[in-house]
Amino acid sequence: MHKTRMVQKIALVPVEERLKAMGEAGYNTFLLRTKDIFLDMLTDSGVNAMSDNQFAGMLKADDAYAGSMTFYEFADAVRDVLGYKYVMNTHQGRAAEHLLAKVFIKAGQVVPTNYHFTTTKAHIELLGEAVLEIYFDDALKTESTNPFKGNMDPQKLKDVIKKYGKERISFVRMEATTNLIGGQPFSIANLKEIRQICNEHGLILVIDGSLICENAYLIMQREKAFQGKTVAEVVREICSVPDLFYMSGRKNTSVRGGMIATNNKELFDRIRPWLPVYEGFYTYGGMSMREIGAMSVGVREMVDPSVAGCSVEQIKYFVNRLLETHVPVVTPPGGLACHLDAMKFIPHVPQSQYPAGALSAALYIASGIRSMERGSVSMDRDKQGREVAADVELCRIALPRRVYSMSHIEYAIDRINWLYKHRDLVNGLKFVWEPPVLRFFDGRLEPIGDWGRALTDAYKKEMGNV
Ligand code: F0G
Repeated sequence: MHKTRMVQKIALVPVEERLKAMGEAGYNTFLLRTKDIFLDMLTDSGVNAMSDNQFAGMLKADDAYAGSMTFYEFADAVRDVLGYKYVMNTHQGRAAEHLLAKVFIKAGQVVPTNYHFTTTKAHIELLGEAVLEIYFDDALKTESTNPFKGNMDPQKLKDVIKKYGKERISFVRMEATTNLIGGQPFSIANLKEIRQICNEHGLILVIDGSLICENAYLIMQREKAFQGKTVAEVVREICSVPDLFYMSGRKNTSVRGGMIATNNKELFDRIRPWLPVYEGFYTYGGMSMREIGAMSVGVREMVDPSVAGCSVEQIKYFVNRLLETHVPVVTPPGGLACHLDAMKFIPHVPQSQYPAGALSAALYIASGIRSMERGSVSMDRDKQGREVAADVELCRIALPRRVYSMSHIEYAIDRINWLYKHRDLVNGLKFVWEPPVLRFFDGRLEPIGDWGRALTDAYKKEMGNV
């Protein structure tokens, strides 16, 4: 439901150059340069197509260090769409996590969550003890028909409260469209059950709403009680449940920023003093006014079903087409991305050799498509320095909003099918340099055996150096 009025040229560099670029990037797709990338499906964060009205919002922004009317327009949009009276911007989602951690997490405390996100876990564990994953068993089954793999298991939450006591729990966190297990939503029924348990024990409930609109869109399609409701109504319903809400604005609102919002003034007032210390004055919170101008429009536009559903519908098509040729993908299709299950795609690569990282590198060599490793490379070592195996090993092929067309997806399907036929050529990786935290961003790896060369030669034999 959009037309394209500005375009960006992209190029597919020949496979020999892709092999060289992958080597120079230490077999880490984060370290590639965009000149070498054909389809950039690393993430849906900060790379969505903005609307004409968002650009207009940028141009109209009222630049002021303090008291900008653009901020107050943003606060109006948050009140109208999410239903929150109090809001502050942060420069992106992890900055919101940093503030929440600073205010609410004390040494030795834990945070139960339906599933962690990388930056969330880092912030929580830098100050507290641990994140506790409280999911149903289905959550980790990559092939499933469970419509709500993002649900939290209420019984396990009760057990955790009993085990740790409420004093050791900073807050309970529910993540919309759980990123790391394949963009899987929670249901409102589950969210309300968790709320009830939090009420019984006096615990704060926090929602990470970075992907709230996709979660709402999937609720509309999958949860009986909400069929026939609008995305806007479902979003409001979700937002009425927690004590605190935060989001990365780089996803749903198609800008580069973030926010914390609530109707609880007391909680808000505990966080607000720290905003100017770490982010910026209250009316900009580390964002440029132009981004806030675009974000005000983005907040209103994100509940339009053609925005909330644009990646969900493309992902559904992408996943279903790959299922036709038995390529192992995460089902049911969720929000955010099409996820290849690396442990099934290349089962000969042991988890200790990072199959998801290897598959992401192989996909780049075979297609020029940049995906993201979401497996054990994305897990940092534990406090004793030991490797931590991820629950799932996924190669995440993200769909930025309103950026790629169906023909781009057809190209991706074609190359993934080619790679699947040649999967025996792909082997594992080992680290050659490893940062101490969030190692997946900057870490450098190398292939075990020269499999990048073998894959490139097989590709050239069939298709030439293209
Ligand atoms: N929470 C969730 C669920 C996220 O997906 C992200 C970012 C963040 C928090 C942090 O927000 O990047 O604005 O600081 N996810 C991006 C991704 C990076 O590629 O999935 P941020």
